[in-house]
Amino acid sequence: MLRILVLALGCILAFVEFVDVSDHAHVRVVGGNSACSGKVEIYLGLQWGTVCDQSWDLNDAHVVCRELGCGPAINSLSGGMYGSTYGAIWLKGEPCSGQEHNLAQCSKFRMWSSASDEVCSEHNIAGVQCSVALKRPTLSLLSAYSAYSTGEAVRFSCTAPSNHYAIFDFHLFKSGAGTPLVTQGTGAPRTRAELTLFDVDASYQGRYTCLYTVQTGVAFNSPESNSIDIIVLDLHTPQIWYNTSVGAPPGGVTRGGTLNITCSTSSWYPGGFFQLRLIRSNGTVRHSVSAPSSSRTFFFPNAQAPLEGYYRCAYHIQMGGRTFISRESQPLPISVRDPEPLLSPMAVSWLVSGVTLIVAIFMILITAWVRYKKKKKKPVELERDSRTCIDNTYVSLPVK
Ligand SMILES: *[C@@H]1O[C@H](CO)[C@@H](O)[C@H](O)[C@H]1NC(C)=O
Ligand SMILES: *[C@@H]1O[C@H](CO)[C@@H](O)[C@H](O)[C@H]1NC(C)=O
Ligand SMILES: *[C@@H]1O[C@H](CO)[C@@H](O)[C@H](O)[C@H]1NC(C)=O
Repeated sequence: MLRILVLALGCILAFVEFVDVSDHAHVRVVGGNSACSGKVEIYLGLQWGTVCDQSWDLNDAHVVCRELGCGPAINSLSGGMYGSTYGAIWLKGEPCSGQEHNLAQCSKFRMWSSASDEVCSEHNIAGVQCSVALKRPTLSLLSAYSAYSTGEAVRFSCTAPSNHYAIFDFHLFKSGAGTPLVTQGTGAPRTRAELTLFDVDASYQGRYTCLYTVQTGVAFNSPESNSIDIIVLDLHTPQIWYNTSVGAPPGGVTRGGTLNITCSTSSWYPGGFFQLRLIRSNGTVRHSVSAPSSSRTFFFPNAQAPLEGYYRCAYHIQMGGRTFISRESQPLPISVRDPEPLLSPMAVSWLVSGVTLIVAIFMILITAWVRYKKKKKKPVELERDSRTCIDNTYVSLPVK
């Protein structure tokens, strides 16, 4: 009764020449001794049906095996080896190449009925024997680190479990990308390959998996390996500047004043720190402070001579088992000066010479005045002497 109903439904559906329901198509194998062998059934037109063995070949079997998640096909079977049908029989259209991922995608199916021209019967049923599913490969990093800086190379190793397939190609995929980033294929069978990303930049940061391809007439991909995350850092050179108390000379700090040196990076990662290096004529001093944000100030109150020198800062960050250090900033020269005296030595010397000049002039004036006073006195004496002379004629005058 059920069977008549199914057949009737089949006849109705037979009017629909081509059924394109690939999005909903599924394939399964029944009646075999494993999940990878048996009579092929395909879900089309809202029912499971068998496939007619006319023109059924190994390439079709490969597609079924791939769709099932099994290994490459060993055999394509015909003649209802795994039992006859009970429902719809589908006729394959165009041949499959063997590379497709889905049987319903590579061939359009038509429902067979006894009224069709094509030769088929309930006993012409297609089957497959697939090899067991390919095993997942293992992806590992050849270095012990999971973090890299831009420009470095990242070397992976992809290892397949040894099996009896000839493996030719290994592929490295970045999560979310449909095409492999690196493919290693030398044409010789092997079970391991090195897959290298050269000259990485920030766009390479992410999750990676690998898989291998076996060649058995058609290429067959293994399942994806475990995944590995890598980090790619791009550390920029930090900026450096200083601030000091107002009134300090340019490029310098007043002795006893405060000196603040700030380091700033445009490529900040959590957990990093700044290292300030003071280069002096007699050695180098290093100071480190954590970098909870992209810039940090080193604070030196009471500046003294040992703070003099060239300052450079670098940004350090530990990630993925490594320490990354940025380039050092440009050197920042700092000198410590004594506070400006009220009168500069120049002013003092000017003052001293000024005072000396004034004193000299004063002395000259005094001397001149004394002389003048003396000269003014003489005529008085002369007068007296003249008078004496007049009074006592022929008395010689004392001339001085
Ligand atoms: C510190 O110095 C920088 C550059 O020399 C300047 O831009 C900034 O305004 C100064 N900050 C303070 C608080 O003085
Ligand atoms: C230097 O830093 C200290 C503390 O961070 C701050 O109080 C002071 O104002 C800063 N001085 C200058 C000249 O920027
Ligand atoms: C270098 O000189 C400074 C004074 O300019 C002094 O304080 C410091 O101890 C000296 N360092 C070494 C290593 O001699």
